[in-house]
Amino acid sequence: MTSICGIIGDPVEHSLSPTMHNAGYKNLGLDFEYKKFHVVADNLPSFIERIKNEHLRGISVTIPHKENVIAHLDEIDEVAKKIGAVNTIVNTDGVLKGYNTDWIGCMQALEEKTEIVGKKVALLGAGGSARAIAYGIHERKGELTIFNRTLEKAQSLAEEINASYDILENFSAHNHFDIIINSTSVGMGNMKDQSPIVKESIPSNCVVQDIVYSPLETQLLKDASSRGAQVVYGYKMLLYQGIAQFELFTHKKAPIEVMEQAIIPNES
Ligand code: ATR
Repeated sequence: MTSICGIIGDPVEHSLSPTMHNAGYKNLGLDFEYKKFHVVADNLPSFIERIKNEHLRGISVTIPHKENVIAHLDEIDEVAKKIGAVNTIVNTDGVLKGYNTDWIGCMQALEEKTEIVGKKVALLGAGGSARAIAYGIHERKGELTIFNRTLEKAQSLAEEINASYDILENFSAHNHFDIIINSTSVGMGNMKDQSPIVKESIPSNCVVQDIVYSPLETQLLKDASSRGAQVVYGYKMLLYQGIAQFELFTHKKAPIEVMEQAIIPNES
């Protein structure tokens, strides 16, 4: 019987995860299929029942369910518990366990360009994705400052992991960051022409990572390139968090190149 996996979110239409996972299944000849499930917040409890009733094998979790889903699961992996967000559910004989692969996905993408230990890192945003990234930077022993539009959220996340924090609009008053990571939604959707920070505040010798993957060249990354900084595209985190999920769902080594080719944007 075909093993069914999928992604739940609202919105979910734009997701590249089905393309990425299905390319991997096909390459390895696995009898798996990955689907999109549009699930609004009110329908989350009934979808959890459906995972069990229909024996769905694995579920990727995206906006707005990453934090709320925790209460509905049978077990939570220790790291996901510390982060306070789940982006992956594995169904083993009716027992649903939550994991977080966002943090490792983000770190692997960044580590292709730079070491993190001892580096001064600015994290823009303090939402669900930021929680995973902050955990990763803390694990890798980076020196973290969290900037957010709403100061209280930056403060509470920073205090959990002993990081510094400030309001996003004060970003340019700080300097000498080695790494800047955008985890806000600025740069996508109706904010696609905007950047969370002004171009002049980007040091020329730093690495700038965006978790926004559509468009590929966000305003932030365009500004970073024109300042001479190195850039890490958003689809790289999508890829590496997906690789870790693929392996949790199938127990097989993921074909990374094939899955990357499936999601590489056509833009230059
Ligand atoms: P995700 O799960 O992707 O992290 P989220 O939890 O909704 O999504 O977090 C969105 C982040 O983008 C938050 O840090 C949010 O800032 P607030 O905490 O102040 O809401 C940030 N964000 C969204 N729109 C923004 C905007 N126009 N300017 C600055 N930050 C913005």
